[in-house]
Amino acid sequence: MAAPFELPALPYDDTALAPVIGQQTVQLHHGKHHQTYFDKLNPLVDGTEMAEMSLEDVIRHSAGKADLAGVFNNAGQAWNHILYWDQFSSAGAREASGKLGEMIERDFGSFGEMKDKLVATGAGVFGSGWAWLALDGNKLITMGTSGGDNPLAHGKVALCGIDVWEHAYYLDYQNRRPDHIRAVLDQLVNWSFVGEKLAEGLG
Ligand SMILES: [Fe+2]
Repeated sequence: MAAPFELPALPYDDTALAPVIGQQTVQLHHGKHHQTYFDKLNPLVDGTEMAEMSLEDVIRHSAGKADLAGVFNNAGQAWNHILYWDQFSSAGAREASGKLGEMIERDFGSFGEMKDKLVATGAGVFGSGWAWLALDGNKLITMGTSGGDNPLAHGKVALCGIDVWEHAYYLDYQNRRPDHIRAVLDQLVNWSFVGEKLAEGLG
């Protein structure tokens, strides 16, 4: 993918994530919010060296540069939401297995303890941001980031990303952010997909 960057279609129907993420939230979140990050990013990279880069390289290139903060946040949000939509499935695996399951037990104690930590991480993000399960070297970690920031910008591999901007949950859960994160982890994340991301990250 190089500029102009384009919003990918949803990998399922806009009712597929209900009732945890209702149709109206999906339509606004994908069709308006996610689209807008692309609409803002493209003119910012047009005519620059970043127009020839992959979206991932635009994020790495702009990370930590104050004069490219707009590029970074819009590129980050464009990329973060692609992972966000792709990781969900109405009929996906609801338990981690294989290498992912082993590493979760090693690094968190159990699948349940990992989810508890991810809920707490997301609840602790001040304002708008994300809660991540990420691969840091050979270790699984949770991390909270603000704005469009993500593990990729910090040399880590994003495995699962929960959007904790209010636009992700306010229509369905109002101010109950932890309840929303818990429901997403229990009912929407396809842990087979997360396991595939881990395999890619471990190379
Ligand atoms: Fe979002």
